[in-house]
Amino acid sequence: MSGYIELSNGVRIPSIGFGTWQTPDGKTAEHAVSFALRNGYSHIDAAAIYGNEKGVGAGIRASGVPRERIFVTSKVWNTERGYETTRKAFRKTLSDLGLDYLDLYLIHWPANRKQFGNADEINLETWMAMTELYKEGKIRAIGVSNFLPHHLEPLMETSVKPMVDQIEYHPGCLQDETVRFCQKNRIAVEAWSPLGQGRVLGDPELARIAAHYGKSTAQLCIRFALQNSVIPLPKSVTESRIRENIDVYDFEISAEDMAEIRAMGDFGGSGLNPDEIDF
Ligand code: A2P
Repeated sequence: MSGYIELSNGVRIPSIGFGTWQTPDGKTAEHAVSFALRNGYSHIDAAAIYGNEKGVGAGIRASGVPRERIFVTSKVWNTERGYETTRKAFRKTLSDLGLDYLDLYLIHWPANRKQFGNADEINLETWMAMTELYKEGKIRAIGVSNFLPHHLEPLMETSVKPMVDQIEYHPGCLQDETVRFCQKNRIAVEAWSPLGQGRVLGDPELARIAAHYGKSTAQLCIRFALQNSVIPLPKSVTESRIRENIDVYDFEISAEDMAEIRAMGDFGGSGLNPDEIDF
């Protein structure tokens, strides 16, 4: 049984999502998504750049779960920024997924000043396309991904404010400043790579805390995000792990252990800085 978080526009988002980054298209994506939906997940996190939206869509259909009981997210890729290109990218994503609306659509990465002199203007133009699609009823909620407070600020002045920011978040990478900014402004925070893509799972201190609850280190990381009101999006193509990653509602990390994880400092991050990326 999973819970929900209410977005600023009243839409309810399931508090754990199923990640699909690096899941191969075709039967693998189809099976992983269908298995997840039949085993407790009701929220799928997709993106055009993952190259597997056809398989993800097939998995949604194969699950037999009614569309309205599934929360589906996708993201517009960096090469499609701008007004018309974003609208076109949205149509392609819908067609690849085989859906007629999305629950959430995100700008995948902010345009940054290192690459574009007019980065803020580009982000606003992309945001206007997202806003229009939202007002037309084709998307239930809109947001961004990998935006730092200074990328978010110009969007906060527009008619529809971002409802979600999806960022890298896991023990060892907590992005406090961005999380604080979002929580203060009613922007729900989602965690990509809540297991640090597997990199933090070998950490002995995390393993020791997890063992104390009779849980795996992956489950500890997922529960840690939940207890910080962050929506984790663990990815797996392995049935036992898909089940394991949602089996996190029968324990609670103590305030002391939460503080200990918090105090662990930086490790296991991807090293991707939205102000520095060149893709
Ligand atoms: P796989 O998909 O082969 O099962 P993240 O969600 O942080 O990006 O992490 C995804 C990576 O972690 C994938 O390599 C995935 O492997 C692995 N993974 C997912 N769940 C677990 C788990 N419960 N235990 C160990 N590794 C996991």
